Parts: sequence; C-alpha cells; structure tokens
Amino acid sequence: MKLGRKLQKIATGEAWASGVDRYYRWKHPLTADSLLQNIDRTKLNQICEKYHVPGEVKAWPKYTNYEHWLGRAVDHVRELRLDRDPKLSILDIGSGAGYFIFVLKKLGHRVFGLDLSEPEFYGELFQLLDLRRVVWRIEAFEPLPEIGRFDLVTAFAVCFNGHGSGKVWERKEWEFFLNDLQSRYLNPGGRIFLALNPEEHGHYTPELRDFFLERGAQIDRHRIWLRG
Ligand SMILES: C[S@@+](CC[C@H](N)C(=O)[O-])C[C@H]1O[C@@H](n2cnc3c(N)ncnc32)[C@H](O)[C@@H]1O
Repeated sequence: MKLGRKLQKIATGEAWASGVDRYYRWKHPLTADSLLQNIDRTKLNQICEKYHVPGEVKAWPKYTNYEHWLGRAVDHVRELRLDRDPKLSILDIGSGAGYFIFVLKKLGHRVFGLDLSEPEFYGELFQLLDLRRVVWRIEAFEPLPEIGRFDLVTAFAVCFNGHGSGKVWERKEWEFFLNDLQSRYLNPGGRIFLALNPEEHGHYTPELRDFFLERGAQIDRHRIWLRG
C-alpha cells in the first residue's frame, strides 16, 4: 500500500475500524461447522438433497448448497458489523432459507424472517434451524402485517419490489413501503438496510436515487441505509 493511502487510512479512522473488524473475526470465527454444531446435520443434508437441482446457480434451489450460503451470510453479518454488541432485534425481509438470521441468532440477536410460503424448502429449514418467520407476500401500496418493532430491518437481494418484472417499484411504491416500515416497524433509533438487485437500467433510476437521498439515505452502490 502506498504511504499516502496508509496515512489517509490513519487520518480517517479507517485503519482503526478495520483493526476492530479483524478482532471480531478472530473472536467469532463463524465457520459452517461451528455454526451448525447443535443442528441435526443428517436432517439438514436430507432436506437439501430433496430440493437440490444439480447445476442450478440462479433460482432458489441454489440455496441447498448450505455451506456456501452460510458463508455468504457470515460475510453480510461482518459487513453490517453485527458480529458484536449491541444485540439487536432484527427483521430480515425476503429471508429465504434463513441463513443470515441463523448466524445472527447464534451471535445473540433476536431475529425474525418474512417471506413467501413457497418454496417449502424455506419453511423446512426454518423449522430445523429453529427460526421464526411470518409468511407474507409484500404488494405495492399494501401495509405489512402487525409483527412488532425492530432495531434493524434488512432486505438482501430485494425481489419484493417487482425485481426483473418490468414493473419494478419507483418513488411512490417505495414511499408507501418505507413510510409503513418507519412508522410501524422501527424502534426509536432503528435503521433499515436494503441491498437492491440490478435491473436493466442499473440498481435504481436517477429519480429513485434522489428519492432515497431526500429521505436521508446513505447509498453505497446497491446498498442503502435509512434511519427511522
Ligand atoms: C433473491 S432471494 C434473496 C434471499 C436472501 N435475502 C438472500 O439474500 O440470500 C429473494 C427473496 O425474496 C422473497 N420474495 C420475493 N418476492 C416477495 C414478496 N412479494 N414478498 C415477500 N417476499 C418475497 C423470495 O421468496 C426470496 O426468498
């Protein structure tokens, strides 16, 4: 690393932050084996084999490759710096197979998922991993169900916004959804994290980017942070 960049990292506090990140990686190694210590691996393998589709890397059966996706979930936990205190109540929207909230639960957070009833694979994994979720289809301009309040609401690889359909949400749909989340779902000081999927025009239109910024969002490529 060039000296100038090194000095910049020290001046901005980046060097300290990445040292702290390294400390938590060392403190909680979070390997698949350690995470799955108390889980019935025979049952887990049976469920995953039942739904596995050889060669599938795009559609949901890809999540049967649990070691890979647990690793990705650990990466997300690290990036959001949730591998440390404080312990939070966290809702993951579009929770899928539940790997992300499973890792969070292991770390002592209180977690909850929200997803569709299909595929049944998700429900079976939730049962095996002892996770809770609400089965719900998010629709534009429709309020979410009453399930309590959270310190953090996350949504990775967002699809509930009509991703890939040609009718992807714009300002009005997001406005309704975020108003609902912020007023009924967040604890005081709560936050929302969204990781958008790419559409044909990119992750968002310039108008949508402006909309998020007007609401005080911090945007880093496809990742959006909002406060309550
Ligand atoms: C691409 S997957 C992402 C899964 C997980 N968040 C991850 O990053 O691995 C999108 C998830 O959103 C769910 N989903 C799609 N449309 C939805 C809707 N309208 N309401 C609720 N969940 C939805 C899907 O069932 C799926 O689990």
